[in-house]
Amino acid sequence: MNIKSKVAVITGGASGIGAAVATELAKLGVKVVLGDMNEDGLKVVVENIKKNGGEAIGIKTNVTLEDDVIKLMNAAIDTYAAINIVVPSAGIFKDAFMISTDRETGKVFKSMSTSQFMDVINVNLLGTFLTIREAAIRMIDNQCEGVLFTISSINKEGQLGQLNYSSTKASVALWPKILAGEFHAKNIKGIRVVGIAPGYVETPLLLGMKPEVLESIVKDVTIGRLVKIDEIVGALIFALQNEAVTGTTLEITGGVISKGLVK
Ligand SMILES: NC(=O)c1ccc[n+]([C@@H]2O[C@H](COP(=O)([O-])OP(=O)(O)OC[C@H]3O[C@@H](n4cnc5c(N)ncnc54)[C@H](O)[C@@H]3O)[C@@H](O)[C@H]2O)c1
Repeated sequence: MNIKSKVAVITGGASGIGAAVATELAKLGVKVVLGDMNEDGLKVVVENIKKNGGEAIGIKTNVTLEDDVIKLMNAAIDTYAAINIVVPSAGIFKDAFMISTDRETGKVFKSMSTSQFMDVINVNLLGTFLTIREAAIRMIDNQCEGVLFTISSINKEGQLGQLNYSSTKASVALWPKILAGEFHAKNIKGIRVVGIAPGYVETPLLLGMKPEVLESIVKDVTIGRLVKIDEIVGALIFALQNEAVTGTTLEITGGVISKGLVK
């Protein structure tokens, strides 16, 4: 797909991967519609894009609220008359073991709360569902070609302490297969579905970790370093430009070792 002059809707656009994707796509001539709960962060990203000659708008959005997501998608259609690229990058984690036992007594003293579980499900899973459903409705009705992405993670393979997060990332890694199949069955043409599963990415969150924690993460990455945010953005642009990529999830991890094998 030729991406110049296309329209992208990106959630989680105020920070990290979402902000980097928005900034890079705007440089390539894509009109960008950003949604995030962080209004101040959105303003900074939108202003930067505009300063560099790009086109962008920011809409305060909570991706767990259907009405907010509908407003975001309507803003894209009202402002730029199309939606072609959808990147649901809004995501959170709330790590905890499901059960913690006391070393001496062996009895349970703590468990993952229902809200720790549901908050992550709501943002990462429900939020992604609402985002790509509302985008797909408008893409089909307005005959827009394009790509619906899901943002998974290497921890779709399972990670201790991430029963909630890993569950959401395993789910959205599967969705490209289901949705590309559904569109084919319904004779919906021109909309591809692609998952992106990053490994440990050089984001402020990881760079802010204690050096010894960071070291223990990096020792299990075969390329010997964190993945650069540009490498995630590059993979997403590759998927946009290569029409043979659909119904699959691309892993961009640098090769994360688990039990001697790459995860
Ligand atoms: N950074 C990594 O190493 C890494 C690795 C694998 C997967 N991922 C995934 O990539 C995505 C982006 O991660 P990131 O590192 O850029 O995170 P980030 O924290 O930098 O950005 C996430 C953004 O989502 C927004 N957000 C959170 N809840 C929201 C809600 N309910 N509605 C709207 N916006 C909301 C936040 O305000 C923030 O701006 C996430 O889905 C994450 O799970 C990240």
